[in-house]
Amino acid sequence: MKTALCAVMFVLLAAVVRAEKAVCVMQGTKGSQVAGTVTFTKVEGGVRVVADVTNLTPGEHGFHIHEKGDCSAPDASSAGGHFNPTGHKHGGPDAEERHAGDLGNLTADASGKAHYDRVDKELQLTGPNTIIGRSVIVHEKVDDLKTQPTGNAGARVACGVITAVKD
Ligand code: CU
Ligand code: ZN
Repeated sequence: MKTALCAVMFVLLAAVVRAEKAVCVMQGTKGSQVAGTVTFTKVEGGVRVVADVTNLTPGEHGFHIHEKGDCSAPDASSAGGHFNPTGHKHGGPDAEERHAGDLGNLTADASGKAHYDRVDKELQLTGPNTIIGRSVIVHEKVDDLKTQPTGNAGARVACGVITAVKD
């Protein structure tokens, strides 16, 4: 009986700890047709972030994880500020000091499509600073990677909530 209980506990624990993948489906905010998906996968050395976004204006667009998994406001202001569990300043994804949520910019081609693929050393899919349950936001303008605390990236054009994927 004891053994059976232990086995059940082990399986439950393993399911909780083993969140190794997450997805986010982003939809346009009010008046925006921008849409896309992001996947987050635990890999050697960090979390691989792959995003595909459509209907952007050509050029660069700020791309961040925001604190709250709430895209309900028409302008996505409900998602709060950049996810920043360590109390750091805003920066670029490769900067020494950055918000955990600072993923830099997406670059859209002439047809408005952007593809992003990089391994991030700071993001976490488990533990107290997990990104699961938070949101991803795409901005109207380029993130200059230095203006505090937003990168001066303008309005929020798409928003989605990050959810864990069971494999
Ligand atoms: Cu943002
Ligand atoms: Zn930031």
